Amino acid sequence: MKLFATNAFLLQRAKEEGYAVGAFNANNMEIIQAIIETAEEEKAPVILQASQGAIQYAGVDYIAAMVKVAAERATVPVSLHLDHGTDFEQNVKCIRAGFSSVMFDGSKLPLPENITIARKVCDVAHIVGVSVEGELGQIPKSGENVTREQLEKLMANPQETEEFVKKTGVDSLAIAVGNVHGMKTREAQIDVPRIKKIQKLTNIPLVLHGASGIPDESVKQAIKAGICKINIDTEIRKAFVRGIGIILKENPNEIDPRKILGKAKTEMKEAVREKIRLFGCNNKA
Ligand code: G3H
Ligand code: 13P
Ligand code: ZN
Repeated sequence: MKLFATNAFLLQRAKEEGYAVGAFNANNMEIIQAIIETAEEEKAPVILQASQGAIQYAGVDYIAAMVKVAAERATVPVSLHLDHGTDFEQNVKCIRAGFSSVMFDGSKLPLPENITIARKVCDVAHIVGVSVEGELGQIPKSGENVTREQLEKLMANPQETEEFVKKTGVDSLAIAVGNVHGMKTREAQIDVPRIKKIQKLTNIPLVLHGASGIPDESVKQAIKAGICKINIDTEIRKAFVRGIGIILKENPNEIDPRKILGKAKTEMKEAVREKIRLFGCNNKA
């Protein structure tokens, strides 16, 4: 039996049943444990994803090994996914490391180049049963001070998404629809009709990045419009720091890392639980 489920498998059911699977960024052991333990408690399928930053910090082999240990113990389906893979080589390295899903983020490239490399990643990944996420439109980072007008210009063009999906064969597509990475408050205004339009034209599971900054009501509308995978990182980071703050305030002399990180883990678990329930993927394992 395969250890990891693919995103394609998890997202197909989500699409059919109208919920979204949570994709949480994993950087160290405590974060991985917090995500998988909560998914287990909520009986939710779950995606753990490693970004370029995570791979630089922990090493791709460490991340794959830690997620494997956690997935072996889990009774819920777990996918190990590459988040924002920058190039073809990075994608192949993650396939080799055992990832069940990868992402080629060519959103900053001209469309033809994005299509060519995404197609190449799909050609390789699909041979070994690994699923592929592409990205269209550009999702800015919080702090870049992008105006509403600029944000709208960066959104995914529906006609291009149709062409991209047809020409590449990607299994899912991340789209820029007013979402912004790394927002600490939930104030992003997303273009739900655009999601609906892209869903109609592509008919594949759509992915919403930067979801920490999106109000709960908009998240629910986005799921109804066709979003099947939702990425969360910043809310976990906030919970981690909150946990450490609580424990050090209670006991400023605490020096046991297990007690400090243990509290961080408790807070992260509650953040993950809130999102799993919001996305409606609890009891869907
Ligand atoms: O989408 C980006 C994620 O929040 C990962 O960020 O590269 O700092 O790990 P990172
Ligand atoms: P946030 O950090 O805004 O939650 O976004 C996460 C993300 O999109 C990872 O790819
Ligand atoms: Zn992202």
